[in-house]
Amino acid sequence: MSNVETSSAPGSVPKLAVKSLSHCYGRGESAVWALRDINVEVADGEFVVLLGQSGCGKSTLLNILGGLLHPTQGSVEVSGVPLFAAGKDNAPKLSYVFQEANLLPWRRVLENVTLPLELRGVPKAEREAEARELLEIVGLSDFALKMPYELSGGMRQRVSIARALVGQPDIVLMDEPFGALDAMTREHMNDFLQELWTKHRFSVVFVTHSIAEAVFLADRVVVLSSRPGAVRSINEVDIPRPRRSELMASEEYSNMSDIFRQELK
Ligand SMILES: Nc1ncnc2c1ncn2[C@@H]1O[C@H](COP(=O)(O)OP(=O)(O)OP(=O)(O)O)[C@@H](O)[C@H]1O
Ligand SMILES: [Mg+2]
Repeated sequence: MSNVETSSAPGSVPKLAVKSLSHCYGRGESAVWALRDINVEVADGEFVVLLGQSGCGKSTLLNILGGLLHPTQGSVEVSGVPLFAAGKDNAPKLSYVFQEANLLPWRRVLENVTLPLELRGVPKAEREAEARELLEIVGLSDFALKMPYELSGGMRQRVSIARALVGQPDIVLMDEPFGALDAMTREHMNDFLQELWTKHRFSVVFVTHSIAEAVFLADRVVVLSSRPGAVRSINEVDIPRPRRSELMASEEYSNMSDIFRQELK
């Protein structure tokens, strides 16, 4: 395990760059600094995990990366362009998967997946063809015409992953997407996500407070300290892929997990 700030090739522009970023909620006496001087880079096609305890600012950072929240200080650049300066035409292709699947209950599975394309004005036949392809990838072809309530929690989360992947995003932000699932489904979803990412190689920023999940999925793990969240360390996970769940029983895995456990104290 090595401590590195970036895995981008020297001189290349990172896909995502967080520069001297701090965030404060509220003002005056009620001010709460959630993030302090964060510097992180994500290379094209890299899988970066943000690991930290509850309340350390992980969702705040992800919301800023997703353009949902303006940072108090510092900046975010996507391929060298400031996030908030990008015009409509060169806006980054960025999508978000939340902890809860957040499907629209009144729309069928297929219509949930086509939604982002519909908002972009893509013709019906085209958006349905792409959505059906993605539903096949997430193993839900047979459920395209079902309503969300007819699906299990893991299946609903797979639909939200399919929805996040329509329009071929360059960057996928995931905020504890499997946090609400039982341990077995979660393990299965981690396998599935690794496979999907290996095929499509989008850049990922994945938030979790599970050490096991971080070691299983990440190219690099950014450990955040408690409030205000600051980068405690950035660690490369050099376990070869594909990683299998049996790996979790290995000594290498447990040694690496121990290091993170110490750092989170
Ligand atoms: N809208 C808000 N207004 C005021 N304070 C907020 C707001 N959202 C978050 N905070 C505060 O900012 C800090 C970081 O919150 P955040 O939700 O980013 O943490 P987190 O690491 O995602 O936690 P968890 O693992 O529990 O989801 C917390 O102390 C929280 O109380
Ligand atoms: Mg959170």
